[in-house]
Amino acid sequence: MSAWLIGAAVLLIGAALWYLLIATEGVYLGRRVVIALYDLYAWRYDRIKQFDEAWELRTLAAPLVKALSGVPRPLILDVATGTGRMPKLLQRMPRFKGQVVGVDYSWQMLRRAAEKLGKSRRTALIHQDATQLPFGDAAFDAVTCLEALEFLPDQAAALAEIVRVARPGAPILLTNRRGFYARLLRGRVQPSAAFAELLRRKYGLERVVVEAWQVEYDLIWVVKGGQASETAHPRTWQAVLRCPRCARVGFRKESERRLRCAHCDQALDFAEGILCYAAALRTTQGERSVMT
Ligand SMILES: C[S@@+](CC[C@H](N)C(=O)[O-])C[C@H]1O[C@@H](n2cnc3c(N)ncnc32)[C@H](O)[C@@H]1O
Repeated sequence: MSAWLIGAAVLLIGAALWYLLIATEGVYLGRRVVIALYDLYAWRYDRIKQFDEAWELRTLAAPLVKALSGVPRPLILDVATGTGRMPKLLQRMPRFKGQVVGVDYSWQMLRRAAEKLGKSRRTALIHQDATQLPFGDAAFDAVTCLEALEFLPDQAAALAEIVRVARPGAPILLTNRRGFYARLLRGRVQPSAAFAELLRRKYGLERVVVEAWQVEYDLIWVVKGGQASETAHPRTWQAVLRCPRCARVGFRKESERRLRCAHCDQALDFAEGILCYAAALRTTQGERSVMT
């Protein structure tokens, strides 16, 4: 084979690897690859992103806290929280008196989040897939999902879950990719106007506002429709957690490292400051398939 042909083959393979692993972050290769890549890069994620905290406090945390000003101790869910960007911003807001829960499926991203957030009764980190959120219906006063929807294996399922766990009247904050990389993510990203229309039509979301935010992302602010019920739900994140065994909602704290289902006694353990929900779900599903 001539040197020319070998060079062309190397270039082609390099381009394919760049497209599949870097530009599209493994999304066309399945959840395992996406999560493996985030596990691999977790230690330098924040350095790559170079978050501008002052600007993010102004554009993300402050408007969210303002939208929740009528709720005394809001419960907020951050889906695909990564290294805890949104929980950290909310920790920095003196006016925020509620609790924030971050869910992610990359253990290493969550470990970085745990290090950054420290021990706090106002934040919780849960290891679980975003397409099967471990909470009861209408559990949260607000739900956020930043820079992640395009990487989730089943975007429609994740959006349905986000809407399900938000209470009627809750603000929901999403991002929609734009720019050069959005064009590479074929079938996973659509223009913000079309995405906004989908949120209205398919998910029944209201007051959709698209805001230009970064070169790579628009912010999408929406509100879940229906009659607002601000005071009707419990105000701790443990109380809205759904049991992987009996599927009922409500856990109590047994110790610093363990929660216990209020209905069937199922335990959920913490490791490295993270609630190991996915592992418990796998175990109970395994037990169920053995029994049937
Ligand atoms: C670009 S990061 C965004 C993280 C964070 N929201 C932020 O703005 O910095 C995408 C995140 O989605 C998470 N992710 C990807 N697939 C997931 C899934 N199926 N379930 C939960 N999280 C997932 C990754 O682990 C990663 O932390």
